[in-house]
Amino acid sequence: MTESHPPKTRDQWGSRMGVILAVAGSAVGLGNFLRFPVRAAAGGGGAFMVPYLIALLLLGIPLAWVEWTIGRYGGQHGHGSGPGIYHRLTKGRPWAKYLGVLTIFIPLVICFYYVYIEGWTLAFSFFALTGTWDKAIAAGEMDKFLSGFMGAESNQYFDGPWTAIVVFLLVFLANYWVLYHGIQKGIEKLSKIGMPILFACGIVLVVRVLTLGTPNPAHPDWNVNNALGFMWNPDWSKLSSGRVWIEAAGQVFFTLSVGMGAIMAYASYLRSKDDVALSSLTAASTNEFAEVILGGSIAIVAAAVFFGAAGASEIAKGGAFSLGFITMPYVFAQMGAGGIMGFLWFLLLFIAGITSSVSLIQPALTFLKDELDWSRRKALVVIGAINLAVTGFIAMTIGFGTLDEVDFWAGSVLPVVSGLVMIVLFSWFLGIDRGFKEMHKGALMNVPRVYRFIMKYVTPAYMIFLLVFWAIQDWWPTATMQNITDPQRVLMIGITRGILLALALLLVYLIYVANRRHKFPHLTGEE
Ligand code: TRP
Repeated sequence: MTESHPPKTRDQWGSRMGVILAVAGSAVGLGNFLRFPVRAAAGGGGAFMVPYLIALLLLGIPLAWVEWTIGRYGGQHGHGSGPGIYHRLTKGRPWAKYLGVLTIFIPLVICFYYVYIEGWTLAFSFFALTGTWDKAIAAGEMDKFLSGFMGAESNQYFDGPWTAIVVFLLVFLANYWVLYHGIQKGIEKLSKIGMPILFACGIVLVVRVLTLGTPNPAHPDWNVNNALGFMWNPDWSKLSSGRVWIEAAGQVFFTLSVGMGAIMAYASYLRSKDDVALSSLTAASTNEFAEVILGGSIAIVAAAVFFGAAGASEIAKGGAFSLGFITMPYVFAQMGAGGIMGFLWFLLLFIAGITSSVSLIQPALTFLKDELDWSRRKALVVIGAINLAVTGFIAMTIGFGTLDEVDFWAGSVLPVVSGLVMIVLFSWFLGIDRGFKEMHKGALMNVPRVYRFIMKYVTPAYMIFLLVFWAIQDWWPTATMQNITDPQRVLMIGITRGILLALALLLVYLIYVANRRHKFPHLTGEE
């Protein structure tokens, strides 16, 4: 017996350029402009690029090839999400479809806080234009401005999180509006308009930063040359710490958005003979340009020009958020044409954000359409309602660390688990021979043969190593709430975990329902 439900007609991408820009749009996000520079500067500057490039070649790029390939393969059979695709890859093993939960759950949960932060970037782009934060900057209180804005405290700048919530609602509607218009008229159009604007903003900002010269005569050593040196001069001694290798791998994973189901959903809307080999590599390269060239020349470099190497080093320790939303407003306040530059910076972050967040929602949408035959409208209403409820909860309880908790599970622990599942099902269950054949259908380049070996052994082993090392070093203390004593915090984090668990169980139940409706038919032999 083969497919009992013949594939319905599915949405399709309009052009190769369109799908590449959409996948690049998914990958290029806040991580490229905030997370990367912080990690690279702290991890040995130029030296960080060694473990980074190795992880790119052994982890990021092979996983991207795999995810594009199985996404297109699934789409041919009417499945664009993990459950249906894993069912096929394993020739119908009964457990496989349930592993697919990861590829819907992870992006959806990331979206719950990602869209909220996306709202901050939009709000901040207006604040930059209108000088809303001038008083806070003059008083050196941008940190208070930010915590007031996000509602962690009430202060003279903001009275509760209401501004953030209103902007969130706007951004929320924009996301669902795009998704409502479908793959070609929604996501593809957004990417074709957004990505060029994003790159234009990025290039203007890089030029501005690189022409800052020596703005502060009192500190002649605070200049662009030394700032670039701070960011990029290799500190080889850092490479002896295992931690830097792990962080570089984590960054590659996060920035390419591989292994989580977003690329899979996008690739399922390709035609059977559309290239995946070169397209995947092109999208990944676009992301790397945005990350290393643009991301590596703006935020930390500008901070080092205005605050010196020692200041920038402190800023990098404060993390990506504080760099983006606290330090950068100070930087723009001191920069010629700072209002405009600040606007362009937050606009860039906003576009980077929205082209990523639509891809975070799409897997759940694809699942409900493919496996439960829901209409796009019905699926979006239900996903949107859940999104509003959970994001609302996170926004109201952010001071208790609930956003960090959600990010810990969906943005850090589970993606590695999911990526491991994906590559193992591809290399060991579908098999590397069939997998490679599938990958090369309509391919515009040959994937080097050495990747047969890498995908089968090196990438899975690398990921198992990552999982074990991380689990011991970071995850165990966080997962067991070892450093949290405040009982209210424990309660809020407990509720957050309860919500996540309920959502995961709901998805498992929906897969069960789809299975009873014969969406995952018995499969035999070669097809
Ligand atoms: N790559 C995105 C960034 O750099 C973040 C991200 C992680 C993501 N996983 C994702 C985006 C999945 C879309 C889909 O910010």
